[in-house]
Amino acid sequence: MGRIVYLNGQYLDENEAKVSVFDRALLFSDALYEVTSVIDGKLVDFENHLKRLDRSMSELNYPRLINHDEIKKFHKELILKNNLKEGIVYLQVSRGVAERDFNFPSKETDFTVTAFTQVKDLITNQAAENGISVMTIDDLRWQRCDIKTVQLLYPSFAKAQAVEKGFDDAWMTRNGYITEGTSNNAWIIKGSNIFTRQADNLILKGITRETVSDCAKELDYNLSYKAFTITDVQNADEAFVTSATTFVTPVVKINDKKISGGAPGKFTKMLRERYIQKARETAV
Ligand code: PDD
Repeated sequence: MGRIVYLNGQYLDENEAKVSVFDRALLFSDALYEVTSVIDGKLVDFENHLKRLDRSMSELNYPRLINHDEIKKFHKELILKNNLKEGIVYLQVSRGVAERDFNFPSKETDFTVTAFTQVKDLITNQAAENGISVMTIDDLRWQRCDIKTVQLLYPSFAKAQAVEKGFDDAWMTRNGYITEGTSNNAWIIKGSNIFTRQADNLILKGITRETVSDCAKELDYNLSYKAFTITDVQNADEAFVTSATTFVTPVVKINDKKISGGAPGKFTKMLRERYIQKARETAV
């Protein structure tokens, strides 16, 4: 028996859960998702993930939203059934099953709602300890990166390119400016100033980004939501990424240039600790 996963109201063995070949997620990447981190068996920043899901669904004209209590119930149930202490819950909502047609199906079509858990060492891991290297690559995604869709082929391609070249991840660029990582938001620190790109249609407004912004202000840093270039990164004191799966993870190399001497910076470490403390305190 494998993991217990969630599919349209049912809890099933992962080998038994089946989705139609006509699902719009398969045919058109017509699905939204959220990844919520779990620490001490509890969900981190959950309400904000649900609000972002509502927004993603609204932006793509999904005809209705899903009740938050219902979503919370099956997230908690999956954590219990799989005895998850540390890791993530992945949630996906597709527009449902319909004959292949570029037009959206009838508004009455049931969504396909799936969720599963993954075990992951979020608090103690190699990347947090030693930092990661990033390669830059053109950002060739569509221009609605603010919607969290499962249309992830380009970020997956970019990450694979980076790994093939010996890097851990890629930071994407548009017109000379960094947009974001393949699955995380990008940050730099210079003196007492901290920068992350303004949230518009070209990046995903990370939930972790919001909480880390609060942490940065509490630690008396001047936070600016402003785009930066590869040169800015090369001249920065420290750099890091944020996401539900990485929390705050140091970036110690960009292309062939080391940052903060090739080791995690002091302030990045402080931010990470503060973030984890906050996440622990507020998890549900
Ligand atoms: N990715 N930007 C992109 C493109 C992302 O895919 C993600 C998250 C983020 C950070 O968002 P948040 O802080 O809400 O996790 C930014 C998730 C973790 C994933 O796809 O696995």
